[in-house]
Amino acid sequence: MRHRRVIKIFSVTKTIWHFNVFYVIVKSLHKFNTLPFKTVIITIRAKILTVTYGVGNEHILDVGCGRGLYLIGAAKRLVTGKIIGIDIWQGEDLSGNHMENTINNAIVEGVRDKIEIETADMRKMPFTSENFDMVLSSFAIHNIYETLERKKALLEIARVLKVGGKLCIIDMRYSDEYTRVFEENGICEIKRFRTSLIFPIATVIIGTKC
Ligand SMILES: C[S@@+](CC[C@H](N)C(=O)[O-])C[C@H]1O[C@@H](n2cnc3c(N)ncnc32)[C@H](O)[C@@H]1O
Repeated sequence: MRHRRVIKIFSVTKTIWHFNVFYVIVKSLHKFNTLPFKTVIITIRAKILTVTYGVGNEHILDVGCGRGLYLIGAAKRLVTGKIIGIDIWQGEDLSGNHMENTINNAIVEGVRDKIEIETADMRKMPFTSENFDMVLSSFAIHNIYETLERKKALLEIARVLKVGGKLCIIDMRYSDEYTRVFEENGICEIKRFRTSLIFPIATVIIGTKC
């Protein structure tokens, strides 16, 4: 009898504890839109771009650019080059996901003249082969839910890269799959690293078209 009462008290305490943890997490979610969180994201972006970046005259593509986090970060490092962002502007993937918002962000950040934005699906890109010195993509490819459809996007990335061009894919899932497809389709010197601070923890894949 005493044993049962102890178990009941334990189980009630556990439920209260779980509720508290859940409450704290939910209450904290708004903080992801605040200055400290943005600072972390911008710091990570700078680190990733420093590892992957060229000299500033590159022709770059950002695949699934959304509101322009990497599009704008990369554009700021360009001297004479140009960066194109493509997206299909899915609202469920990113709030406020409209081309006009991305253009406004580029204007505010002073890089509008370095950026072009197009509506295009990453699985069928409207570019000739071997077009770009660098292809970037951050947190976008996992939004394609089927393996074979994701593969189409990865093959397109490999196709539009120039020989010697670099890719930089940042994503929170499927890094083994991306690496395997790239290895089998002409991408060499593939390196992977994890971002330690970003939420959710992401893998960065960099490689060169050989
Ligand atoms: C989570 S958001 C990331 C946006 C941005 N890259 C960033 O890091 O902030 C994912 C983006 O991928 C885009 N996307 C999803 N599927 C796509 C597809 N098949 N072709 C092009 N863009 C796609 C969505 O519209 C969305 O803008």
